[in-house]
Amino acid sequence: MAIKIFEQEKQFHLYNSKISYVIGECRDGEIGQLYFGKRINENQIIYSYQGVAGRLDCDVKVYDENYSKEMACLEYPAFGNGDYRNSAYEVRQLNGSRVTNLVYQGYEVYEGKKPIPGLPASYVNTNSEAITLEIICVDDVAKLEVRLFYTIWENYSIITRHVSFKNIGEDEFKLTKALSCCIDLPDHDYDWIQFDGAWARERYPHVRPLDEGVTAVESMRGHSSSNFNPFVILKRKDTNEFQGEAIGVNLVYSGNFLAQAEVDTFDKLRFTMGINPRWFVWPLKKEEVFETPEVIISYTKNGLNDLSQNIHGFMNNNLVRGPYKNKPRPILLNNWEATEMKFDEESILKIAKKGKDAGVELFVLDDGWFGKRDDDFAGLGDWFVNTNKLPDGITGLAKKINELGLDFGLWIEPEMVNPDSDLYRAHPDWVLAAPDRRRTLGRHQMVLDYSKPEVVDNIYNQLYEVISKANISYIKWDMNRSITECFSQGLPAEQQGMIYHKYILGMYSLYERLIEKFPHILFESCASGGARFDAGMLYYAPQAWCSDDTDGHERVKIQYGTSYGYPISSVGAHVSASPNMQTGRSMTIDDRANIAYFGTFGYELDLNKVSDEEFERVKEQVKFMKEYRSLFQYGTFYRLQSPFENNISGIMVVSEDKKQAIAVIYNTLRTPNIGRENIKLQGLDETLVYSVDGKEKLYGDYLMERGIGFIDADEPWYKSAGDFQSRMFILKA
Ligand code: GLA
Repeated sequence: MAIKIFEQEKQFHLYNSKISYVIGECRDGEIGQLYFGKRINENQIIYSYQGVAGRLDCDVKVYDENYSKEMACLEYPAFGNGDYRNSAYEVRQLNGSRVTNLVYQGYEVYEGKKPIPGLPASYVNTNSEAITLEIICVDDVAKLEVRLFYTIWENYSIITRHVSFKNIGEDEFKLTKALSCCIDLPDHDYDWIQFDGAWARERYPHVRPLDEGVTAVESMRGHSSSNFNPFVILKRKDTNEFQGEAIGVNLVYSGNFLAQAEVDTFDKLRFTMGINPRWFVWPLKKEEVFETPEVIISYTKNGLNDLSQNIHGFMNNNLVRGPYKNKPRPILLNNWEATEMKFDEESILKIAKKGKDAGVELFVLDDGWFGKRDDDFAGLGDWFVNTNKLPDGITGLAKKINELGLDFGLWIEPEMVNPDSDLYRAHPDWVLAAPDRRRTLGRHQMVLDYSKPEVVDNIYNQLYEVISKANISYIKWDMNRSITECFSQGLPAEQQGMIYHKYILGMYSLYERLIEKFPHILFESCASGGARFDAGMLYYAPQAWCSDDTDGHERVKIQYGTSYGYPISSVGAHVSASPNMQTGRSMTIDDRANIAYFGTFGYELDLNKVSDEEFERVKEQVKFMKEYRSLFQYGTFYRLQSPFENNISGIMVVSEDKKQAIAVIYNTLRTPNIGRENIKLQGLDETLVYSVDGKEKLYGDYLMERGIGFIDADEPWYKSAGDFQSRMFILKA
């Protein structure tokens, strides 16, 4: 990994063993994108800027007859100066002008990487893991300094980028768009993959070809959302899971975002991503700085599994923090689907005790323990224990849970308030609400105004009281409604465009304070299931509740989609009751577990209510997961065959030394009397012999070329099989 600099040509070649990223001056100080892709020779100086135009409509040749900005591939394009594609940033100046022009001034290069103040970002463990380049550009009229940050990583096919803006003049100006990246590519022969859905069906992959015009996904909900995830892939038409070129971009941010691909009529592709510019206005006074969130740009020549594995490794090693980084995650039991809010200490202890008997390690008390919280009409905002339910408080309950031999975890939803709460009665001005308008409720609650430090302070102090007095080792941080009427009461009109982003900064600051004070706590983020599953959250909470949909069949799809952009160690996945709460579907306890293993694993039901036979299976499952969880959570993960396109689908994990692997194959609907359909395995050592389930002995190359079959009529399990069945194969070299 290195950065080769050609001083005279003002060219910078960032490279590692797999990728090259070359940028440099095109014309008159404008920084262009000269090459991004598979590693090329670092001595290559690039002279073709793709800026030479034929005859444009209403011809605009910006500097001379041979160069048009519109034809160039640019690094951080401005608005209003001859490039008619979407800009990467926009600045409204005091005189009303929005025209800017960034001119290259110089650069800095250093080992390692600096943090981004107030924002989540990837980090180095040692300086030798990465090198950072800062390109400094100035618009001398607006008195704007822009720094483009690029970090190239030694161990991953990844470039991380972000941008800072500084007012170096006297007059205030307003940033009205400040995206994190622009990637201009010289052709548009790509498919776009987005991950969309809704509550209970998050992150389904959708593929479509890019064509002239704009393709985009966004959120304006105040959180990243289950509707569109801030992760997208651009792939070549013939790229599949196992071969071909692709670029993935994760935004390390949890609020409103925009990801957009624009294909112009000259066959070029502009990809941009960052904070959604809709209703974003950020004033910058003299000397003030604004920093954008980071993007993680990953690249592969070897298919989508390779792209995902690259992202998984990077997030596990360079984004997730804390004592659970790269550590097996505790097997937990959560009471939500078992009791909802109707519980008391006795019923909770009974559920926990049974969990302990099964071998579970952590008990999590979900919603309903605080304020007047007996249903979802009241209590949010009042973070003191409801002693009617828990007479000895959280302190007492945690102690009793610990005495059972379990760790104790707690649910909170700190960004919200119910109108029926002491907090709201005392501070009606602490919620986001537009003057003289209805205060829209969602799940009977409003969103606290986290742009106000006093609100964050109040919630911090309340939570500190609870957490500091009890032995709590895990927190599930929920967020159950989107923002409406985004207006901060009491703030002047010209600052209202800052609120969506300030809200996120306030939320991140509360996480940071709690992590600093209680560094031993494992956080799991949640937002009505998986509505804030993004790279930003993983910096604070190493795992995220993937979906409220715990149905085994649905989870096969949701977790398959999630795996494209996020590591298996981050996927909150539990076995719940059958028939399932969300779908009414019945599945065996083993079929439900066979997908939950590919995640953090746990249970979300009252184990007192399962049959003796099932309880024995639960004990076996917990034992099994304890033995294999490092493999599931940190092994190399492969998508073998998609459940979105096939009746039979499969996934697998392989250990680093390739001596162990576990594959699970799912059969959605059973078709009688069909042939044996094999699924080819991946990632094994061709030369090793593997025992399959301790029986058959097969070479790695055979397993990868011929595969394993779901349907084998001789197997006793098959005779009783129906729909929504799974089968696990354990391979040992
Ligand atoms: C959300 C979460 C659930 C549960 C409930 C509690 O819906 O996704 O897991 O915690 O809130 O109200």
